Amino acid sequence: MAHQKILILDFGSQVTQLIARRVREAHVFCEVHPCDVGDDWVRQYAADGTLKGVILSGSHASVYEETTDKAPQAVFELGVPVLGICYGMQTMAHQLGGKVEGGHLREFGFASVRARGHTRLLADIADFTTPEGHGMLNVWMSHGDKVTELPAGFRLMASTESCPIAGMADDDRRFYGVQFHPEVTHTQQGRAILERFVLEICGARPDWIMRDHIAEAVAAIRRQVGDEEVILGLSGGVDSSVAAALIHRAIGDQLTCVFVDHGLLRLNEGDMVMDMFAGKLHAKVIRVDASEAFLGQLAGVGDPEAKRKIIGREFVEVFKAEAARLKAGLDGAHQGAKWLAQGTIYPDVIESGGAKSKKAVSIKSHHNVGGLPEQLGLKLLEPLRDLFKDEVRELGVALGLPPEMVYRHPFPGPGLGVRILGEVKKEYADLLRRADAIFIEELRNFIDPATGKSWYDLTSQAFAVFLPVKSVGVMGDGRTYDYVVALRAVQTSDFMTADWAELPYALLKKVSGRIINEVRGINRVTYDVSSKPPATIEWE
Ligand code: XMP
Repeated sequence: MAHQKILILDFGSQVTQLIARRVREAHVFCEVHPCDVGDDWVRQYAADGTLKGVILSGSHASVYEETTDKAPQAVFELGVPVLGICYGMQTMAHQLGGKVEGGHLREFGFASVRARGHTRLLADIADFTTPEGHGMLNVWMSHGDKVTELPAGFRLMASTESCPIAGMADDDRRFYGVQFHPEVTHTQQGRAILERFVLEICGARPDWIMRDHIAEAVAAIRRQVGDEEVILGLSGGVDSSVAAALIHRAIGDQLTCVFVDHGLLRLNEGDMVMDMFAGKLHAKVIRVDASEAFLGQLAGVGDPEAKRKIIGREFVEVFKAEAARLKAGLDGAHQGAKWLAQGTIYPDVIESGGAKSKKAVSIKSHHNVGGLPEQLGLKLLEPLRDLFKDEVRELGVALGLPPEMVYRHPFPGPGLGVRILGEVKKEYADLLRRADAIFIEELRNFIDPATGKSWYDLTSQAFAVFLPVKSVGVMGDGRTYDYVVALRAVQTSDFMTADWAELPYALLKKVSGRIINEVRGINRVTYDVSSKPPATIEWE
């Protein structure tokens, strides 16, 4: 049975994906598409009757700038509810005959909004009530322009002093607009408002549940692949691991995983991956130990971008060679592989989908294996392409992967290659691996009494960085002259900006003491107190 769905049209706001995540958290399936898809596309999309509502996102742009986008007019003619958020509300007002003007004052940050009258969207939703009995909402606002005249059929739904029309509603047509952002967590009732819209006003069925998704995904993989064989590049990261577990559940031995060990993995990581997939899941996994080749290629290279390129290129070469063998039917793949599976997830799909307003700035060249299926002459299998990261994790747990693996911090494709500053040497990697493992172990051991969570779970990413400089120390009666390790721990929700984590001193003290005592060759530990921006999370 097809899922009922919500269409989110993206006008280029940085938080559009959050709208989709909030809708998915209400267990309703939704998709994000660029705002310029056009009327025909929208009608086609709605034709099978599963479309239950439309949400128009925010944008950076102003409605009256010439270059700005409109929603396809067809959206307002489908007979389904429409919610406009920020710019989405402005374009809705403008397109339905209201008026929008440039604000004299940019409003950015928290605001208290008075929720007026009783509309279906906001009825009985409030953070507090004023002495006069007005329901108030604490919200997050970010806009310059504002609606100054309601379109015909609309009533005022919310206002602030500087933004008299901060919300508008037409309960008959089920069209709503809010100037504030219900999708961000700063808007305290945001989740309640979006749930009200999606579940009650749109009446969408909350049937998007990861536990149930397994059966659906398994059936889809079997249908797609038939009795053909599949290759998957397993990195040990969350996405490729969950993809492997899911595909293995669907087709068992028709799947062969290729795990390229580039020698820049964390302590015991290679063995853990093998133990999990080959040992416990009984999946076919080929471990390619390519560490010598990688280290050989990296010898004498100190420039971060050059290192990334070498690692990326070498990775593709090693993987291609292995895939070609499997395609030719070697290694027990009796008929030869026809498919290449990848752990592409929904944010990757949205980002490459080309909302034209999105201009990604390339700060660092990331591990890129795009184009590989064509080069190898293999068909592409992407069983996670509808899922957000949180959903991939939930699915992984439902498939029986250990939560510690599924909720692991992200690890960059080039691995320790970008955490050893300058030239990469095996000696450095060995020291760093041990220091890093101690740091992670203690982060897991230290529980924050206020939340009951470990500091590993309270940080988004944490690791050690190897600094190839020597400093003087004393140990026992002797003088040491050894290397330095920096600890890095950050908290972030999107990895675009990040704060350094205020780890307890007791934790830092324990980690530093253990590293210096246990890892001979390191005699000094520092803690990185730089936020992103201007620093990046990784040091290279
Ligand atoms: P930065 O250092 O740019 O990192 O603040 C942001 C996030 O991206 C990860 N990262 C990478 N991931 N290949 C990857 O797969 C890379 O080359 C790469 N560089 C950075 C980083 O670990 C952090 O999570």
